[in-house]
Amino acid sequence: MKGNALIYRTLLHEDLKDVRTRILDECRRIPETIRRPVDLLIESGGKRLRPALVLLSSHLYHADRSQAVTAAAAVELLHTATLIHDDLIDQAAIRRGVDTLNATWSPMATVLAGDVIFSQAAKVMARDENTVLMQRFAETLETICLGEIGQMFGRNGNLPSIDSYYRRIYAKTASLFSLCMETGPILAGCPAHTIARSRRLGRLIGEAFQITDDVLDLTGSMSEMGKPVGSDLSQGLATLPVLMYAREHPDPRLHAVIVQRANGAILHDLIDDIRQSEAPQQALALAESHAGEALVLIREHPETPYRRALEEIVQFAIERRH
Ligand code: IPE
Ligand code: IPE
Ligand code: MG
Ligand code: MG
Repeated sequence: MKGNALIYRTLLHEDLKDVRTRILDECRRIPETIRRPVDLLIESGGKRLRPALVLLSSHLYHADRSQAVTAAAAVELLHTATLIHDDLIDQAAIRRGVDTLNATWSPMATVLAGDVIFSQAAKVMARDENTVLMQRFAETLETICLGEIGQMFGRNGNLPSIDSYYRRIYAKTASLFSLCMETGPILAGCPAHTIARSRRLGRLIGEAFQITDDVLDLTGSMSEMGKPVGSDLSQGLATLPVLMYAREHPDPRLHAVIVQRANGAILHDLIDDIRQSEAPQQALALAESHAGEALVLIREHPETPYRRALEEIVQFAIERRH
């Protein structure tokens, strides 16, 4: 399934155009030296899923359009900044099919570029003076940063439990999807239980999306994904398909790769065996079940093109090839 053929791309065409203008306007003040590569990253064809979710949740709850566009721009800037730092941490050379900032710049310059984008995101989010949203924005940024720190320092010589895997993907991905989906009802002044329901929906979509991403990191290709694959295990990171494999195959190579960071033939053979096992399919089945729960929540809304677009994004989250 191709991201750019999805309904949200046409349905939200004008909204997303305004989001892009807001982002580029905001970044205009960034010094020339770092603006060009940052502009390139912003323009290089990200799926814009998070701003789309902000806009769709805003349409579903009849929130103010201009405030929704502002929040969508802030969320995409936050996402972009986390990717800049994440690629540095992961030492990834390609993102969205183009060179990462860290591929050409020093770590110092890359960190600062990410920080500048974080500051733009916070500035945009503060524009609408919605303190609840600003607070949720700051909390989400905290959760994402603590998630990256946990991923870096949280290894204890064991394979992580499935619970700790879920905590990790909530921190790095599903927390931001939750923020996106709660933005509409927050802006529309909905009661707390409505906001909580929409947050839960965001979380389910984020979990389905990240589990699929983790499977694609094992089974996909660089040309499909626009970013390197096979990188999680090579960094000693055990994702859900690996944990599924470990449950049924007590394999000493897992310990060697994840704890002792073995690479070379051991790593490649292990990746091959996991790929050929039933584990990727089992992990995808869990992603499908989160997506199924998300669809139930979405179908509580009246049938509109916005609901349809949201249903399609959920489907895309689990069927995508990139
Ligand atoms: C990448 O997110 C980071 C993950 C949570 C896996 P996306 O796959 O949404 O990235 P872009 O914005 O489309 O490039
Ligand atoms: C990136 O996580 C998501 C963040 C929020 C930082 P990953 O490292 O798993 O995602 P990719 O594979 O680089 O897109
Ligand atoms: Mg990464
Ligand atoms: Mg990472």
